[in-house]
Amino acid sequence: MVPDLTSTSAWLALLDHSRIAGAWQMRDLFSKDPQRFERLSLACCDLLLDYSKNRLDGDTLELLLALARERGIEQQRAAMFSGSKINTTEQRAVLHTALRAPREAATAIDGRPVAPQIHEVLDRMGDFTARVRDARWLGYSGRPITDIVNIGIGGSDLGPKMACQALRAFHHPRLRAHFVSNVDAHDLDAVLHQVEPETTLFIIASKTFTTMETMMNAHTARAWFLQRGSEAALASHFVAVSTNTDAVQAFGIDIANMFPFWDWVGGRYSVWSAIGLSLALMIGAERFREFLDGGFAMDRHFCSAPLAANMPVLLALVGIWNRNFLHTASQSIAPYHQDLRHFPAFLQQLEMESNGKRVTLDGRALEAASCPVVWGDTGTNGQHAYFQLLHQGCDTIPVDFIAALRPAHALQAHHSALLANCFAQSEALMLGKSAAQVHAELQRQGVPETAIPELVAHKTFPGNRPSNTILLEALTPATLGALVALYEHKTFVQGVIWGVNSFDQWGVELGKVLATRIQSELAGQDNPDPLAHDSSTANLIARARKAAGKTG
Ligand code: F6P
Repeated sequence: MVPDLTSTSAWLALLDHSRIAGAWQMRDLFSKDPQRFERLSLACCDLLLDYSKNRLDGDTLELLLALARERGIEQQRAAMFSGSKINTTEQRAVLHTALRAPREAATAIDGRPVAPQIHEVLDRMGDFTARVRDARWLGYSGRPITDIVNIGIGGSDLGPKMACQALRAFHHPRLRAHFVSNVDAHDLDAVLHQVEPETTLFIIASKTFTTMETMMNAHTARAWFLQRGSEAALASHFVAVSTNTDAVQAFGIDIANMFPFWDWVGGRYSVWSAIGLSLALMIGAERFREFLDGGFAMDRHFCSAPLAANMPVLLALVGIWNRNFLHTASQSIAPYHQDLRHFPAFLQQLEMESNGKRVTLDGRALEAASCPVVWGDTGTNGQHAYFQLLHQGCDTIPVDFIAALRPAHALQAHHSALLANCFAQSEALMLGKSAAQVHAELQRQGVPETAIPELVAHKTFPGNRPSNTILLEALTPATLGALVALYEHKTFVQGVIWGVNSFDQWGVELGKVLATRIQSELAGQDNPDPLAHDSSTANLIARARKAAGKTG
């Protein structure tokens, strides 16, 4: 039985400490310690993490590290990497890290090494992607493939979509990638209007191959294709990525065109598996290997660096400090890189599906808050939308700023402006602007003394608002791999501290079951039993039936 988090000695010590630290002003911490940045930042894998703009000091970190040790981070980390079945509610190992390890890695599940099967699939992916990219894999009319359409949702969409966008600078010039996830056919329809059946390759990506949205989109795409291509031509245009061989065959895809993965790869951790096929097609197998290598480099750092100099551990602990001791309820992600625009959505699934839990591994109610709400958008766009609230709203919302030092374009002036804004935002959140400063400024501007008091309150910034900054040398396959693995391990460490199962997602099931019933009620000829639902749901169903022309 895992001991209660809130009765551990480390937790109680942190609680005491937070009563003092809660009143600290970061600007004082910076002026007292000129070495604060050196002390509270670290670099690895071509990433720099600056966590100095948080309301903490060395003592806080010591206490947080004691908490990490008391919660058994090192033991749990070893358990995950060694293939133990740490996903206890599904009796599954959690081995996405094995997907990026080299061929000779010895990891095994139930005594069976996993590297041979992983590398067999990687080799097949390498062969397939080379054939498509070199125009040796052709469409039914003999033309090369120009469009890749990945049909998947959740982890079978967000990872490859995010990574394909992030690595746009490395795309094959002939290929375009499209991602269809929503059962709302506006999604699929928009893509089908941009592509030709004879030059399009559909990847049906689904771990289970039963997910309603993906299956519906896949069947519709198949029917669309068959309006022009023949059944025999399907083999050149539909491939599958799944763990479910039977369902793939039942759909009509030859297993020769199926790229498997395994139940020990969670959906939100699957971009490293064959779920990354669209990415491998767009950037090529070598670059895909660099992406895996970047993740592997972060794994090695995570497993070998002391906790006090361990990037994922520190990122996680800063998050725990903010969430549990400074009581922040949400976490904003601000990539100052347009090509990372899908990164906040990717992290939303990674963190919220993993740690959005309210019971411990052994089923007891959590006594401390777990995952904050994760959200965000690119800078500088967010600055002109919601940053007002970040600076002057009632809630303190920590921000992770993410930027690359070197851009993939030659427009250096734009890049300097982008970075200037990124750094200015974290500085402004930290420093704020006092009432006295505002007052003096208004006086300098010649504002009449009588008008000043009313304006001062509006123009004052409280400051002392925490942020991390993550700087990549450049956005490359390797640094992207390291960045994704950094957040995966941050999520893992936080899950261990909270004592939750970060690898199941039962919370998505109830809505799926109810939707199946309502779907048949919307489609059926007979009026559904009005007592089968609450009055709100029953009336919503009735209105949708009426709009669809169902009367009786
Ligand atoms: O509904 C949630 C979920 O199970 C995610 O965890 C998963 O990434 C997504 O659905 C898609 O599942 P699949 O890959 O099996 O289609």
